[in-house]
Amino acid sequence: MTVVSPDAEGLRRAVEVLRAESVVAFPTETVYGLGANAFSERAVAEIYRLKRRPSWNPLIVHVANVEAARGLAESWPGTANELAAQFWPGPLTLVVPRARRLEGVGASNDTIAIRIPAHEVALRLLEASGLPLAAPSANRSESISPTTAEHVLRSLPDVPLVLDGGPASWGIESTVVDVTGETPRLLRPGALPLRAIRDVVGLILLPDEGPADGAVRSSPGMSRRHYAPRATLRLVKEVDQTGLSGPVGVLTYEGADVEGAEVLSADPREYAADLYAALHRLDDAGVATILVREPPQTEDWLAVRDRLGRAAAK
Ligand code: TXA
Ligand code: MG
Repeated sequence: MTVVSPDAEGLRRAVEVLRAESVVAFPTETVYGLGANAFSERAVAEIYRLKRRPSWNPLIVHVANVEAARGLAESWPGTANELAAQFWPGPLTLVVPRARRLEGVGASNDTIAIRIPAHEVALRLLEASGLPLAAPSANRSESISPTTAEHVLRSLPDVPLVLDGGPASWGIESTVVDVTGETPRLLRPGALPLRAIRDVVGLILLPDEGPADGAVRSSPGMSRRHYAPRATLRLVKEVDQTGLSGPVGVLTYEGADVEGAEVLSADPREYAADLYAALHRLDDAGVATILVREPPQTEDWLAVRDRLGRAAAK
């Protein structure tokens, strides 16, 4: 594997690899993605192989502009228009009806997940390659998403090329919203807060909320265990290490300080930006258990709580 800086030469090499139907890891504003030509069955298969991702879990396709996004859709709902106008490029993924002529792209369902990333390197790569890039997070399936090139390297040492764009600014995955139904439905909480989406579309349904408009779709990738470190992660109200065997790491946030703990911000956006890096660090320190002080049960913490809940699942 080679890590290159995303200058003209680095981008040229990345485009070459993508055109040869292989994969390239690249930075986005959320987390690093493992990208492949979305139209190449061989390249997409390589993503699944490297990540050991189950074949039923479909991929997000990244494009450079709204026109390219519409080209992948069978129809373009009004809410997609409004949300794209407001939040693209940005950490929002829209699930829309899939253009019937498109096969593959990871799964054979009738929808497709699309976003325009707000990262200069990602956009330059999309433009220079002229390809829509299928890109999941560049980590082994179920493990912690990478927010640096170094994380990619450690999780997926067999990736041929990594464009190093520095640390990801959001540090947590995009918010995924299904706009195929009457009312938009949240499939995965993420970097873009629900409040921002409500300001544009009014109502947004939560994953398990009615009314069911036709076929209720869930996000196939939201398996219970996900985003998990190697160590056992436990969400706790109060940190109490008694009775735990082996080295213990503690993750807390400002105002709830614990001796010797990793302390993240009490602001949910800043907390999210540092969360995966902190979990990577604790894993590297070789702890057997990570005790995570539970963040507040408010909507602002929805995405962080979702990831922590999945990381803690057995
Ligand atoms: O921030 C992100 O979204 C990052 C960066 C690289 O863009 N990508 C990412 O991809 O998180 P991944 O593959 O780790 O997560 C994709 C999510 C999964 O939960 C998957 O099930 C869902 O999007 N998804 C993809 N296509 C879908 C579809 N057609 N319908 C419903 N959910 C879909
Ligand atoms: Mg992922």
